[in-house]
Amino acid sequence: MASSKVSGFYKLSVDERLKFVKEFASLTDDEVSALKAPGALSLDAADRMIENVIGTFQLPLGIAVNFLINQKDYLIPMVVEEPSVVAACSHAAKLARDGGGFFTSSTGPIMIAQIQAVNVIDPAAARLRLLEARDEILELANQKDPVLVELGGGARDIEVRVIEAECGKMVVTHLLVDVRDAMGANAVNTMAEALAPTIERITGGRVCLRILSNLADRRVARARTVVPKESLGGEEVVDGIVLAYQFAAADPYRAATHNKGVMNGVTAVVLATGNDTRAIEAGAHSYAARTGHYGPLTRWEKDKDGNLTGSIELPVAVGLIGGATKVHPVAKIAVKILGCETAGELGEVLAAVGLAQNLAALRVLATEGIQRGHMALHARNVAVTAGATGELVDKVAEAMVRAGKIRIDYARELIREMS
Ligand code: MEV
Repeated sequence: MASSKVSGFYKLSVDERLKFVKEFASLTDDEVSALKAPGALSLDAADRMIENVIGTFQLPLGIAVNFLINQKDYLIPMVVEEPSVVAACSHAAKLARDGGGFFTSSTGPIMIAQIQAVNVIDPAAARLRLLEARDEILELANQKDPVLVELGGGARDIEVRVIEAECGKMVVTHLLVDVRDAMGANAVNTMAEALAPTIERITGGRVCLRILSNLADRRVARARTVVPKESLGGEEVVDGIVLAYQFAAADPYRAATHNKGVMNGVTAVVLATGNDTRAIEAGAHSYAARTGHYGPLTRWEKDKDGNLTGSIELPVAVGLIGGATKVHPVAKIAVKILGCETAGELGEVLAAVGLAQNLAALRVLATEGIQRGHMALHARNVAVTAGATGELVDKVAEAMVRAGKIRIDYARELIREMS
């Protein structure tokens, strides 16, 4: 397998980058053409995806390089509108690679469906009656999805919670379903709806909601890494990153921004692969608050040799079958570039990407600050807005950064001088 380690990837032309990715992922000529063509998602296909379609909306697809996860090289497709995310992710992956890359694990693809029963006269006893009927409930649920069962998945267990609500006690049944390589929403929602009459009979109450929970805490991926202190520029930088993490652990205002940085990477890959970004965001933030205190999704510590160790745990309700993943032409190619065999592997890649993205942000925040790099990228946007094209974009941007004047009027002046 080719290495994903490349230096100066950003300096290549789009065609040169495509050539590299084509070779790495064995893309066909048609796939390369689809990546290059604006409007790869046809109006017809878009019209079948959602309602009231009037057009399509494009975003850049970038590739984060340098990822080594469990000794396997990955190129990471990312769809994102924010400059510097892809570059930062690639740089952090390079730092992590110096220490052996990322090591990951996961729980398995278990999604939770919730069935809410109200007006239950004896909630505690009803809970036990439901647990006694576990086998009947699982069998009924599995009858709804024989294909999933054939693939080795299906309803695995139930849990029953009695929760206090404003109206009194509710009996909430959780159906735990192994959804294999699907995101799983359709499978678990269908099962939950089918169970409603049985739950009503057993509890004597009335069933209201039957829907999955996005707090997918039975479908968690983990990643860890060790970054040598020398790669970071010394132990002071390690200490700075640990302090930045401890700030997030102590303060929800900071934790929100810390996690936003994690999700810059995660959401970009989720979107590139045609998965549901809102499900992942809801899962991540509710998981970050699962103890009742909203905290950071990652942890950073110093090991006995003074190196930086990082870890993350993240709910990852993503699939490789169904939905936009199999319909959107560019998402299909992004999945091929990523080369994940299972949804579990994709989840673990997401965890590694989230950890890398967070490392990049904390390293910059703990040292030079975020603005220097951001302003350089911002300068290119200002140059384009001022009317620069082609090579002039970089020339004008660099001149503005050198002069410390990133302004549209100055960009116009430079364009006049340089053209
Ligand atoms: C910007 O998109 C993300 C950061 O604010 C994340 C962070 O502060 O950790 C840089």
